[in-house]
Amino acid sequence: MTPQHTGASLRELCPALANKTYFNYGGQGPLPTPALEAITASWRRIQELGPFTSAVWPFVEQETARVRQALADWCGVGPHRLALTENVTSGCVLPLWGLPWQEGDALLISDAEHPGVVAACQELARREGLSIATLPVLELCRSTPQAELDAAVLQALEQHLSPRTRLVALSHLLWNSGSVMPIAAVADQLRQHPQRPWLLVDAAQSMGSIPVAEAARAADIYAFTGHKWCCGPEGLGGVALSERLLAEGQPTLIGWRSLRHEASAGSSFHSDARRFEVATSCLPLCSGLASSLELLAAAGSAEQRLEQIQAGSARLWHGLQQIPGVQTLLPEPPPAGLVSFTLAGHSTAAVVEQLGAQGIWIRRLDDPDCLRACTHITTSEAEIETLLAALRALA
Ligand SMILES: Cc1ncc(COP(=O)(O)O)c(C=O)c1O
Repeated sequence: MTPQHTGASLRELCPALANKTYFNYGGQGPLPTPALEAITASWRRIQELGPFTSAVWPFVEQETARVRQALADWCGVGPHRLALTENVTSGCVLPLWGLPWQEGDALLISDAEHPGVVAACQELARREGLSIATLPVLELCRSTPQAELDAAVLQALEQHLSPRTRLVALSHLLWNSGSVMPIAAVADQLRQHPQRPWLLVDAAQSMGSIPVAEAARAADIYAFTGHKWCCGPEGLGGVALSERLLAEGQPTLIGWRSLRHEASAGSSFHSDARRFEVATSCLPLCSGLASSLELLAAAGSAEQRLEQIQAGSARLWHGLQQIPGVQTLLPEPPPAGLVSFTLAGHSTAAVVEQLGAQGIWIRRLDDPDCLRACTHITTSEAEIETLLAALRALA
């Protein structure tokens, strides 16, 4: 079976894709029917075994361990480095707040980070007396071909690191321009710095869309969700943490799942990543995400899936160049599945609304003000042509 066919067969399993033209994978992926069935089967099993009976705990352990192992494998780390979270943001914020801060430390945050993560850094800075500096990458992405971008980002990093920099926040795949950041090389560069700044990576757009293991292994905090490119249910994500962070970071939002002996308040915390887990959560989501990950893995390796994603985004990017008034953010076909662009003379909100009225779903972004359409392995050529035709008609 060619990779193209495997994406098409996953598409057949997604009811969300049957009745619309869908490009919002960066917001939320569709849930394949086998994953939905795994969730309901898991819920049924809990009730059959009896919630809160000794019969149910082995099942809870099994499903939690299964998804933890699968996510750890994707991240190329041992399961002891993988904490289960609710979403990207909590995976960024919980370990961030537990780092050993000193007044006067500086945070270096890229200008392409998500507002939720930036706001959390700002509040942390206010409470701990830290300063914030900005790492400008967005303009570099817009003007530099991807082949030269890594060197340009590393140079910008060199220029903006200060002797007090104690953390760098940089997404792996930028949610606005769709550019890939050289996370492993950034980690190498930070290791040379006398302060050894922590590296916080928002992996909202990378996990499930591009190979992540090298970056996830290199970062101190590599936080992602299951509900975007992994096509899992909303409400379950994870974070891969470095050995250094596990040794030096303290848990922040503490509950019984953070404890080595969950029934004893006097217990020490888990020494592994579970110290950042909190309390009761929705177990059936673990069964659902494990199923989605298996379906994606069956559609090809991470590299093969990225090739399919790139084929779709390149087709869309080239098609957009032919439409008068359309300007893509990137000067060349995107390295992954996010395609951002503007349409002269049209407000982005109006374009989203007009396309939505035709059953074509893309989104707009505030900063920069632009439109964003995403292609996944489930995206068909017909969908791309439908979007291009609709934009041509608007233009
Ligand atoms: C780059 C990025 N970071 C964080 C988030 C927030 O994700 P979550 O709601 O899973 O925390 C998003 C969601 O769109 C995102 O694109």
